[in-house]
Amino acid sequence: MKKLVTTLLGVSLVSLLAACGGGTAEAPVDDTPEGAAFQYRRAVMQSIAYKVGQIRGIADGSIPGDQATFVKHANDVAALGSMIPEGFIPNSAVAGSAALPEVWTNMPDFQAKAMELATAAQALAVAAQGNFEGAKGMVQSVGGTCGNCHRPYRRRQEE
Ligand code: HEC
Repeated sequence: MKKLVTTLLGVSLVSLLAACGGGTAEAPVDDTPEGAAFQYRRAVMQSIAYKVGQIRGIADGSIPGDQATFVKHANDVAALGSMIPEGFIPNSAVAGSAALPEVWTNMPDFQAKAMELATAAQALAVAAQGNFEGAKGMVQSVGGTCGNCHRPYRRRQEE
């Protein structure tokens, strides 16, 4: 009996491992530097979106969070903003990417738009350190920088 259980466990473990390796829902990404850069920048964007969501939620009271947490999120967004450009290496408009060719033809402007986000988030962190309640009214100064870059550089999503 003990042997049977062990065998069954072994079989289900093998099929579980096979399932993990094989059928993920995510579209496959090339095992190339360009594919890796694409995955990296998506992760950066998703982290930014999460953090800005937390900042918005704390500001409007829908998410609990104190001043220190708010300041930390804003500093994190500043760091993440400065991490955007390195994800856009040459020729990395891979399948599944929503990045427009203008990212690469206008790279200095694209980099400037990433800095706008970083600078706004940094300013929010500094303001929140001084006056937490007042800073809650400044969240849109960060949120607005997303669209400033997405409009020229990100393919519109069919939603
Ligand atoms: C400097 C330009 C720039 C800024 C600033 C920027 N984004 Fe993006 N974002 C992009 C580009 C380009 C893409 C598409 C990347 C791709 O698909 O290769 C993207 C994609 C995304 C995605 C989709 C990620 C995925 O899963 O594929 C989210 C979510 C996102 N951005 C959120 C934000 C938020 C929120 C902000 C502002 C707080 C922001 N972005 C600021 C350029 C920017």
